[in-house]
Amino acid sequence: MVSTVAVHLFFFLISVNLIPTTPIVEERPFQAADGGVGVGLGKSRKRVFPVPHTQEPNPISEAYGYCNTPNRTEQAWEGHSPADFKLLSVQVMIRHGDRYPLYSIPKTKRPAIDCTLSISRKPSHPLLNSFISHMGLGGRGHWESPLSSVPRLPNHSVCEMGELTQTGVVQHLRNGQLLYQAYKRHNLLPSDWSPRQVWIETTGKSRTLQSGLAFLYGLLPDFDWSKLTVRHQWSTLFCGSACDCPARNRYLEEEQRRQYRLRVSDTELERTYADMARTLGLLTRQLRAANPIDSLLCHLCHGISFPCVPIGDSGTRGCLTMAQFAVIRRQQLDDEVDRRRVGLYHKYAILAMYPYLNRTATKMERVARDNEAGRQPRAGGEEVFTLSSAHDVTMAPLLSALGLEQARFPRFAARVVFELWKSPPAMQGQPKKKAGKGEKSKAKDRELFIRVLYNGEDVTFHTTFCRSHDRHASQPLCPLKNFLSFVRRDMFSVVNATSYQEACYRRPG
Ligand SMILES: *[C@@H]1O[C@H](CO)[C@@H](O)[C@H](O)[C@H]1NC(C)=O
Ligand SMILES: *[C@@H]1O[C@H](CO)[C@@H](O)[C@H](O)[C@H]1NC(C)=O
Ligand SMILES: *[C@@H]1O[C@H](CO)[C@@H](O)[C@H](O)[C@H]1NC(C)=O
Ligand SMILES: *[C@@H]1O[C@H](CO)[C@@H](O)[C@H](O)[C@H]1NC(C)=O
Repeated sequence: MVSTVAVHLFFFLISVNLIPTTPIVEERPFQAADGGVGVGLGKSRKRVFPVPHTQEPNPISEAYGYCNTPNRTEQAWEGHSPADFKLLSVQVMIRHGDRYPLYSIPKTKRPAIDCTLSISRKPSHPLLNSFISHMGLGGRGHWESPLSSVPRLPNHSVCEMGELTQTGVVQHLRNGQLLYQAYKRHNLLPSDWSPRQVWIETTGKSRTLQSGLAFLYGLLPDFDWSKLTVRHQWSTLFCGSACDCPARNRYLEEEQRRQYRLRVSDTELERTYADMARTLGLLTRQLRAANPIDSLLCHLCHGISFPCVPIGDSGTRGCLTMAQFAVIRRQQLDDEVDRRRVGLYHKYAILAMYPYLNRTATKMERVARDNEAGRQPRAGGEEVFTLSSAHDVTMAPLLSALGLEQARFPRFAARVVFELWKSPPAMQGQPKKKAGKGEKSKAKDRELFIRVLYNGEDVTFHTTFCRSHDRHASQPLCPLKNFLSFVRRDMFSVVNATSYQEACYRRPG
């Protein structure tokens, strides 16, 4: 009883800390759809897209990229390696697919979108029908509480707020299938995979749970439910039992003050909000609180024209315009540039993502140990495939923590993939030039390599830990040890610390 209360209180405190400072619409577990978390700081929710550094981005085409409409074939570099390298494990973080808005704009009609699944509606997918029937058998799976009560398919003819759409399901069936194609020749999972070898975790939202299941179905069609346990992450940071970090919250608050100051100094933005509010007959602050960009993005992604309202009794109508949309998006892009320049978000991200990265590193070490020559692999194997079904407020800090700050803001159904590779036996002796005392374990490390991919693109050599790696014939990939020493120590240098404990609990200077 006591511990339950404690856990709930903890959750509440964390969420409250995240709410006002979180830069993105998504992760506000306790926030009502009308967004009434006070004024000022609580209002600066936005969706941010990084800017390609060479040219001025076009806010509208950036927005289409964010929709990630599944209407073209995609390039996927997952599973690529030099010949004879062995793939030991894959860990994936996804953002949920296309969803209905979390907020509605007062006085306007909500966008008419049907969230039931049907192969007669576009976009569809060859696996859609078998996916639907397979989800009907979900009762055979194991579900960590409270997931068993979350619907396993979107199924409302008028979408609920935040509900996954058919587009979102199709995006992840495609993602899963892409990785199925990429990994099948590597025999990542044996056909008789054991329950331990597949780890799937999700937040408690239906859109993440359903996205994770669609992804898994694309990767492992007709998977055996009885072997599957779906695990729950209560924090959108996937920080498990290591979520407590006072310094992280301080960085987030400072970051939000920066964001707020930038926004109120943008006169074009202020004028645009005032114009939009006037059209709709709202107070400017009511419109802001309704986070109109979230709803407008949904209109855009679904090809629905922006909302209009009747003006007076004259029969004329006033509409929100693409030009207004572009101004809000332009300011979000400016914010992204300013955020990188100031660096507070990066410090927040380092602390926010350490627990997830530490877990990722630990899993890699375990799988690697299980694969050591002459070692009896553990019965039932190790976690070979991990799927974390998450939100933009999970993936954006992950990208920042890895040093991928130029990466685009996570679109719907975005994916980050960590691959662990082992070099072929012929190469294993090679780098052991002067193997002396204590060199044995290092020699082992040298056989292991990591690849990091974002939306199918290999970004390994853009990460902080491998940016300066000198690629040559004997080491064409990034050594795992770079990643391990980054996670276990080096990443904290930007907050002038050498460990998570120290960084989180040091008194503010
Ligand atoms: C895919 O959809 C997007 C957004 O609706 C559109 O801009 C693009 O032209 C489409 N591409 C193809 C190949 O149909
Ligand atoms: C969706 O809901 C309808 C009506 O509640 C129900 O009849 C149908 O079986 C549901 N479909 C799925 C796939 O859950
Ligand atoms: C990091 O991982 C190690 C296992 O490798 C574990 O013992 C430690 O508790 C983890 N630290 C945190 C803060 O999660
Ligand atoms: C970094 O930390 C050390 C030891 O905790 C401290 O002496 C030093 O002043 C700090 N430097 C900065 C720039 O905060």
